[in-house]
Amino acid sequence: MYLGNNIDGFRNDITKGLRNPQQKSTPSKYLYDTLGSQLFELITEQPEYYPTRTEINILKNNSSELIKNISKDIVLIELGSGSSKKTQYLFHEILRKQEKLYYFPIDISMNFLDSIVTSLETLNKNLVVRGIPDDYINGIKQCNNILFENNIYFDTFSRLIVFFGSSIGNFEPEEARDFLKQIRLNIHDKDFLLVGFDLIKDVDLIEPAYNDKAGFTSKFNLNLLNRINNELRGNFDMRKFHHHAFYNSSKNRVEMHIKSRVDQTISILTIDENFHFDAGETIHTENSYKYDLTKIENLASRSGFAVDKVFSDKNDWFNLVLFRPC
Ligand code: AVJ
Repeated sequence: MYLGNNIDGFRNDITKGLRNPQQKSTPSKYLYDTLGSQLFELITEQPEYYPTRTEINILKNNSSELIKNISKDIVLIELGSGSSKKTQYLFHEILRKQEKLYYFPIDISMNFLDSIVTSLETLNKNLVVRGIPDDYINGIKQCNNILFENNIYFDTFSRLIVFFGSSIGNFEPEEARDFLKQIRLNIHDKDFLLVGFDLIKDVDLIEPAYNDKAGFTSKFNLNLLNRINNELRGNFDMRKFHHHAFYNSSKNRVEMHIKSRVDQTISILTIDENFHFDAGETIHTENSYKYDLTKIENLASRSGFAVDKVFSDKNDWFNLVLFRPC
């Protein structure tokens, strides 16, 4: 997901975030520029980063069971589709029970969308792909319009909205609830929502996933300083900061920070302002919330959904949860 293509928005958010005297912080969406998205792909391939391969295994082992829960023909909508790698495990299973599948990948970043659409359609003649370059809620609204314009009426199919990667963990819990509420407002009673959640587990499993030995997470995090230097004309010296990620167990979240090694003052020309860092002071750059079934059920009930089915891996490290409106 990349929403940071607006330079004024970027400058305003960075200004506001770095001015906060309690805790400097920046919205996590700014980590996902082109380089950031490439680094994140590399993170998902590291041995310490268990979520991606665990989620793929759950999908591989349960896609048939999952699709059995949905009796009507399916229209598939993916939020933050990226490379659509995980979704491929659903195509085949869905096309075993229906002739044709409409697939709408929604992604704010055009990085992948164009190439995905053509390659998927050539791969599978029964797949109709329409990429939607928009934010998630507007993207869902666009899908609804496209279906309606093509005389495909909602009582003849079920939408299956998928949100993989435990990206929901980037939201504050109340933001996650508001987001699901918004989805609920734009779908019908017979539709479904499938969400990937990373689960609360031993800190010795979680922390290495955000501190990979090869150093890609560190590069991914510090890339924010490069962006500020390049796009806002800042003078951050990369050698005077380092990556710091840890599990905050009282808040059930991994916190990612950029930590200042020394007492120093940074200037950002396009903000026309200096920012002071004490030695050890941090910029909080991302949260990654971990869930358990109680929290997941609680999230569902507060957003107009019920948990229909939970799919897990052998270690219970990750859940794919099928929600239905209620
Ligand atoms: C893309 C939000 C799911 O929280 O695990 C990975 C982002 N940040 N390593 C996660 C991330 C550092 C990732 N999500």
